[in-house]
Formats: sequence, C-alpha cells, structure tokens
Amino acid sequence: MSSNEENDTNPAEEATTAAPSSESTEAAPATPEDTVPAAGKAGRRPLIAGNWKLNAGGADGCDLAIAIARSAADREEVEVVVAPPFTAIAAVANELYNKKSDVGVAGQNVYFEESGAFTGEISPSMLRTAGANWVILGHSERRQLFGETDELVAKKLVAANAGGLKCIVCVGETLDQREAGQTLDVIRTQVSAVLPELARSVGDSVIAYEPVWAIGTGKVASPEDAQEVHAAIRQLLADADAELADQTRVLYGGSVKANNAEGLLSQPDIDGALVGGASLEAEGFGKIIDIAAKLVRQGKNS
Ligand code: PGA
Repeated sequence: MSSNEENDTNPAEEATTAAPSSESTEAAPATPEDTVPAAGKAGRRPLIAGNWKLNAGGADGCDLAIAIARSAADREEVEVVVAPPFTAIAAVANELYNKKSDVGVAGQNVYFEESGAFTGEISPSMLRTAGANWVILGHSERRQLFGETDELVAKKLVAANAGGLKCIVCVGETLDQREAGQTLDVIRTQVSAVLPELARSVGDSVIAYEPVWAIGTGKVASPEDAQEVHAAIRQLLADADAELADQTRVLYGGSVKANNAEGLLSQPDIDGALVGGASLEAEGFGKIIDIAAKLVRQGKNS
C-alpha cells in the first residue's frame, strides 16, 4: 500500500512547519490499480530504506528525496522509505506527495509519550502530522551514543504502533560481542524485548539486523554470515508465532552499497536493506532499489 493510499489528504499539509512545496512538474507514474507487483520471499515485498542520519536536513533533503522518487517510480516490486532528520520530514513528505510518489517517509527516532514536559522529544502523532508513516527505532547509534535500552525501545515500539507508525526496529551485536561468540545471545535479548508487541501487531513492523561493526565502516557482513543471523531471527519469530515469522520483513544494514547488495539481497531470509551512507547519493541508492526489483522479477526472492 502506498503512503498516498493510506492518507486521504496530504499528510504534510497539516504540519505547521511544512516548507512551501514547489509545483509538481514531473509526476512519477502511480502504480496502476490492476498491476499487482511481484511478491518477494514468501510474499514479503522487499523494503529498501535510507537512513540519512544527521545529513540532508534542509533543501538538500528535498532534492535527494525527489531524485530517489524518480529511481523508485517504476520499481513497484520494492517498497522504498527515506528517513530524513526531523527538520526535513514535512518538506520531504510534501515533495513526495506532490510527485505522487509511493516512497515512504520515516522518522529516525520518536518518544513514547504523546505530549508533556519532555524537552527535545517528538511524539508519534507529531511525526504523523509532519507526514511520516514510518519510524526507525533502536538504531545502534541511539543505543550506544544516547543510552537507549531494550526496555526503552520496546516502549517506543508500543507507542509508535499505537500512533499509527510502522516501525523498523534495529538489532545487532558489537565487534567485541561477535568476537566473544555472543552474537546470537545479543540478538535474542534484543528481539525478545520487542517480541510481545511484534506478535500483537503481526507484520506491521520490520526488523533490521545491523551488526554494529559494519555500520559506517565499509566492513560489510558476508552474505552467509548475515543470512545465519537472519535465519536465527526468523526462528525466534517462528518460536513465538509461525505467521509472525512469515510476515515479518528482516532487513540487513551495515555498509550496504550497490556493489555488495546483490549477494545480501539474494539470501533467503534477507528482505531488504537499511542503508546509511549510500542512501545519501541518489544514483547509488537507486541501483540498490534496481537490484532488489530485479531479484523479485527473476523469482530469486521467492
Ligand atoms: P551505513 O549505515 O550503511 O552507512 O553503514 C547503516 C545504518 O546505520 O543504518
């Protein structure tokens, strides 16, 4: 379902902070209603999400989003989401709406309270009002630099779902933990914390496996190593509920680029990618979208 189909009105129009949008000159073609995109593995549509982190928070974010929308326009096999900084969400959502783009918009974080004395925080409904329909939760930078715990991530997931946001919940081990053979224990602990809410809202959320040692380092996990952890995550979900395991997309993240995406996305339990650095450059990000679409068309994702 596209972001536009979900909302009758321009989501960003309600935002008091929305930047004025430029006129639509080159509308991307909407998905024809009678075209059902080919499905991915077990019917899971691949998701390619760009995490812009502390970049592209102004007009440059709008330009980037427009370029990405062009790349995504005829790639209905793949769901595409961008996560700008808070300052650009309303403007980016507005631009994408004007271009009739299906590209979704995510916050990079959210707080679990709706309102009150929480200086510097943003609530789920504020994100929705600004035009976001997704949010990234528990990114390792939030966990490591801002002290987010499993418990906090779980509270945010409950609040975000209640507020109508789809969530990308990040999990992953550090290099020390991997070298100590603790990878699967760490993943089990992190996934278990959010499992009750995932099971309550089957298929609404996405898990992103992001080994901390691979984020922003250029050291990508091998497709086989990534698949091993993805299969373990799928098994954890299956232990709770077979349908949950079937319907939950599990993304890989950590130094994904156009030149390593195919090996990763071909793996049976990898349903897409959470892309940091390479999502700041529309051409390279577009190539990752192309690869995901090609794999679906070739039936390699089924
Ligand atoms: P990277 O970041 O692709 O730059 O490694 C991924 C992420 O942090 O989500």
